[in-house]
Amino acid sequence: MKWFKVFPSLIKGKDVLPVGGIQLFLLGSRKVSLVHSTQGLYAIDDACPHQGAPLSKGKINHRNEIICPLHSYCFSLEFGNECEQKTQDMITHPVVEKEDGLYIGVHEKYNT
Ligand code: FES
Repeated sequence: MKWFKVFPSLIKGKDVLPVGGIQLFLLGSRKVSLVHSTQGLYAIDDACPHQGAPLSKGKINHRNEIICPLHSYCFSLEFGNECEQKTQDMITHPVVEKEDGLYIGVHEKYNT
């Protein structure tokens, strides 16, 4: 797992990215979206597992899911699964607050 610092603190991250916000990061070779829902912060691969649309252009619904902008499939931010099992799970990444900042972890198998 390679860790990328995205904000100097959790508080700063929530300031810059209020609830409902989605911010795209390039972490190594991976496009990762940080999503701030009412349930917390989640890091997901930007590419939708269905046909690759950018989930950073999607919307968050009241069920803590992200809705893809292309075909409106919805994915659980907590578990990554599509809500009606229409396609494979989206790729999720851990978000961790460390002493010196807020980090997203990207597994080596996703970062070549
Ligand atoms: S590309 Fe996301 S639902 Fe089709």
